[in-house]
Amino acid sequence: MTCREQSQMEQIDCVTDLADLRGRVRAWKSAGCRIALVPTMGNLHDGHLALVDAARARADRVVVSIFVNPTQFAPTEDFANYPRTEQRDIALLATRQADLVFMPDVETMYPEGAGLGTRVQVPALEGILCARSRPHHFGGVATVVNRLFNMIRPDLALFGKKDYQQLLVIARMVRDLSMEVDVCGVDTVRDQHGLALSSRNSYLSAEQRLQAAGLQRVLRDMARRIMAGDSGYAALESAAERALADIGMQPEYVSVRAREDLHEPTADDRDLVVMAAARLGPARLIDNIEVTRGDQSCG
Ligand code: PAJ
Repeated sequence: MTCREQSQMEQIDCVTDLADLRGRVRAWKSAGCRIALVPTMGNLHDGHLALVDAARARADRVVVSIFVNPTQFAPTEDFANYPRTEQRDIALLATRQADLVFMPDVETMYPEGAGLGTRVQVPALEGILCARSRPHHFGGVATVVNRLFNMIRPDLALFGKKDYQQLLVIARMVRDLSMEVDVCGVDTVRDQHGLALSSRNSYLSAEQRLQAAGLQRVLRDMARRIMAGDSGYAALESAAERALADIGMQPEYVSVRAREDLHEPTADDRDLVVMAAARLGPARLIDNIEVTRGDQSCG
């Protein structure tokens, strides 16, 4: 029986303990299985499940971690209220043929105390975009993902392009620290109105969700202009911020960046990503669209 056939016969397994996790992973590794990791904070939606499907297609075993990571939230942010729906999440993961759910508690993840031990920073992507308003966020993300990688030792790990800066932070950490993990980006999953799915959309009323779909429309409009060859990025960014304010959102930033490392694009850069963060009522929303300047055929 192949590794994959064997995994399809098994029920989903859920562990909270590091020794249990390591035991499972060790057995899979010695059987020659290729292991994928999908790190999450739970409250799963179709965006997370698209990562699980992509993992399933690329690996023999799929591990999904569920851990609301305290070190990536500022004291003023929503750590305490972040939606926690573990039983529903496990049932959903079983329907998508994940093999193992790892649900550590804070002591397992941070035995020395959250925020007190060794940390990982990715300075190349600090100080810009989301990191300006959330200065400790990406250090917390890099630290927890680094720990998950060390605990699980996956061959590949999947991250959503919805959190574009996060995806690049992880890719950069892996490169800088010579980690043996393939980092895969997965396209953003949206609702029928174009709003990127997010656990934080649950903070919005039905009316606000419709309003929030305007964020994606504003970015698409910018992307169309860039595809048509417009490289007046500063003017496009200010116009987009005004358009967001007009639909009742409070823009934090709208920015055109080079896709590879998020530098401000020069005249030579054509592979771009249009990124935005904006507040609507109780939620901070982010979104982005990849665009190739002067390429009318995509987007
Ligand atoms: P979380 O917000 O739960 O997201 C887990 C993964 O799902 C991330 O890679 C995120 O980019 C992806 N994702 C979220 N919404 C998506 C959508 N609409 N389409 C596609 N992918 C989507 O991101 C985190 O958790 C945490 O920062 C984590 C990486 C787990 C570290 O704590």
